[in-house]
Amino acid sequence: MDQTRLRSPDVYGRTFHLDEQTLGVMAARLEARGRHPFFQQVIADYLAELALEGGARVLDLGCGTGVAARSVARQAALRRPVLAIDISAHLVEAGRHLAEQEGLADRVEFRVGDAHALRLPEGGFDVVLMHTLISHVADPSAVLAEGRRLLRPGAGRLVVFDGDYASMTFATDARDGGEATDLAVQRGIVAQPRVMRAMPRLLAEAGLELAWSRGYLMADIGRMDFWQAGIASFRVLLPKAGVLPAEEANAFVDALERAAAENRFFGASAFYAYLARR
Ligand SMILES: C[S@@+](CC[C@H](N)C(=O)[O-])C[C@H]1O[C@@H](n2cnc3c(N)ncnc32)[C@H](O)[C@@H]1O
Repeated sequence: MDQTRLRSPDVYGRTFHLDEQTLGVMAARLEARGRHPFFQQVIADYLAELALEGGARVLDLGCGTGVAARSVARQAALRRPVLAIDISAHLVEAGRHLAEQEGLADRVEFRVGDAHALRLPEGGFDVVLMHTLISHVADPSAVLAEGRRLLRPGAGRLVVFDGDYASMTFATDARDGGEATDLAVQRGIVAQPRVMRAMPRLLAEAGLELAWSRGYLMADIGRMDFWQAGIASFRVLLPKAGVLPAEEANAFVDALERAAAENRFFGASAFYAYLARR
C-alpha cells in the first residue's frame, strides 16, 4: 500500500502531486494553525508526557512545514536532530527554509518519504510523532505498523494527534444548518474522518500498548480565532478537492466570515492525542 492508492478527494492526502499555488495556501494554513496557542498547548502536553532525554531520536512523520518538528527542536534539549518526513517535496522544502530562518537548520533534518513504507532501519527511534497525519493516509493500519517498526523495541513511544473530523462542524443559516457544507469540508480535507475514534483498537491491532490519551474540544463561538486560517483556505482547497465549485466555496466562506464579524459564528471539532508504547 502507498499514498497514491488513496481514493478520497482529501487534498492533504494528495500533496505529492498538487500545484504550487495550492501547496502555498496549505503551507500558510498549517503555519497559522501551528502558531495558535491550542496547537502549542497540545505539543507541550505530549512533550510533558514524553519527558524526552537529551539523547532521544525523534521522528516527525507527515511533518508538512515542520510545525511539530520545529516545536520539539525548540522545546526539548535534544542532542540529535529531529528527523522530519513528508510525502510533499514542496512542503519539506518550505519546512527546511523555515527551520533555517528560525536558527534550527542543524536541529531538524527534513526528508521526503511515504509513511506507509519508509527506507529507514527498524527500531531506530525513541519517539515517532504523527501530528495530524493519520486522517489523511490511504491505510492508517499500515502507517501505524510502520511507526511501530521504526520504534526502539521495549522503549519506543508513538504519539498520534489529530482531529476527530467526523465531529467538525461550521454552523450556517442554510436550511440544513450547515450539514451539507460540513460533509463537503470533511470529504475535501480529510480521508479518514472517524479514525481517531478507532485509535484504541487500531493501536492494539498494530501491537502497540496505549499508555496515555487526552481529548480536546476546539470551539470558536461568536468570533473566529483558531478556525480562521483553515476557513480562509477553503476558498482554494474545496474547489481543488472537487467537493464544491469555486463560487459556492467563496459564498460559504463569505457567510462564515460575515457571521464572525457579527459575533454569531459557531465552529467546532474534537481532537485527540494518544501515546502508545512498542
Ligand atoms: C494536515 S497536514 C499536517 C502537517 C503537519 N504535521 C502539521 O501539523 O502542520 C498532513 C500532512 O501529511 C502529509 N502526508 C499525507 N500522506 C502522507 C504519507 N503517506 N506519508 C507522508 N506524509 C503524508 C501531507 O503532505 C501533509 O503535509
